[in-house]
Amino acid sequence: MADLSHQSAPGPRAAIAIVATLGLLAAAWAVLGDGVYLWVKAAHIIAVISWMAGMLYLPRLFIYHCDAPPGSPQSETFKVMEQRLLTVIINPAMALTWVFGLWLAWQAGFFSSGWLHAKLALVVAMSGVHGFFSASVRRFAQDANTTSQRTWRMWNEVPTVLMIAIVLLVVLKPF
Ligand code: HEM
Repeated sequence: MADLSHQSAPGPRAAIAIVATLGLLAAAWAVLGDGVYLWVKAAHIIAVISWMAGMLYLPRLFIYHCDAPPGSPQSETFKVMEQRLLTVIINPAMALTWVFGLWLAWQAGFFSSGWLHAKLALVVAMSGVHGFFSASVRRFAQDANTTSQRTWRMWNEVPTVLMIAIVLLVVLKPF
């Protein structure tokens, strides 16, 4: 079994990161005034790219992991890769995407817009898939995955479809 015991729980670290980000946001706003909007949008897009990179790669690791016999060196390597991808990239990137996105929506007064409601529904669905993948990392770590490789191949497409719909909604703002 891979030794992942040195990994601390993400909860407190995520909370500290969010509070620190909000503090930085407030300071930047005080210095830059309204010009901060485009900087925050750039930060939002960078966070989105990082979140999506992880959400597209993690199920691909699960697909390969299904082929590795439990206890084999390959299986142990996949466990470390999955755990690190989740805690170092995917979790913080999701938190930052939410913080920056909600701030942008509040600043621009988009909360009454239909496109944002639809986008938020899809981002909540993406966050749910994130939660499911996160639980799956724990199951793989315990050699307790019961999902077939074929089913993982289907899950692999879900974040892609959601991402395409979300980007079309925010760029085209169709309603
Ligand atoms: C977590 C909740 C999210 C909220 C509240 C949110 C909200 C927003 C807002 C208000 C904007 C600024 C729109 C404008 O200035 O015209 C924006 C920009 C953007 N968002 Fe999000 N967003 C979220 C998550 C996401 C996700 C998950 C993606 C992609 C998968 C995404 C992709 C983008 C892109 C590409 C832009 C730039 C659009 C442009 O400038 O034309 N957002 N978001």
